[in-house]
Amino acid sequence: MSESADVTALSHVAIATPDADALVATLVGALGGARTGEEVLDQGTLRVVFVKLGPVTFELLQPLSDEHTVAKFLATRGPGLHHVSLEVGDLEARLAAAKASGARLIDEHGRPGAHGSTVAFLHPKSFGGVLVELCQAKGQPRV
Ligand code: CO
Repeated sequence: MSESADVTALSHVAIATPDADALVATLVGALGGARTGEEVLDQGTLRVVFVKLGPVTFELLQPLSDEHTVAKFLATRGPGLHHVSLEVGDLEARLAAAKASGARLIDEHGRPGAHGSTVAFLHPKSFGGVLVELCQAKGQPRV
């Protein structure tokens, strides 16, 4: 396997929230840092707001539709840690390796994420109850 399948960084920690603006205000007020951007993903059903605190990026997930999985997450578990995202150079290679190792995947292949990235989720049942996202930044070589 190519080395580019290795994890290279913590991309971000994602928090599910019904009110991203309120949480941004709390994070920035308490911890410093700054709001660095915002996008709407998943065909208009998910608002994503980024807060950067030094080397740490929080991704705040606010559902805009009751049908979104994050809305279902909030309804059943309440606000809280949603996923941890790890940066990889070669997402498809890492997914294949994870699958070969016996880990459960949610996404067999990458799909569009924020900032033009490609992302895929791994099943929390295989990772101590934590939903893990793999993220390949825009412009990273695919092979
Ligand atoms: Co994420």
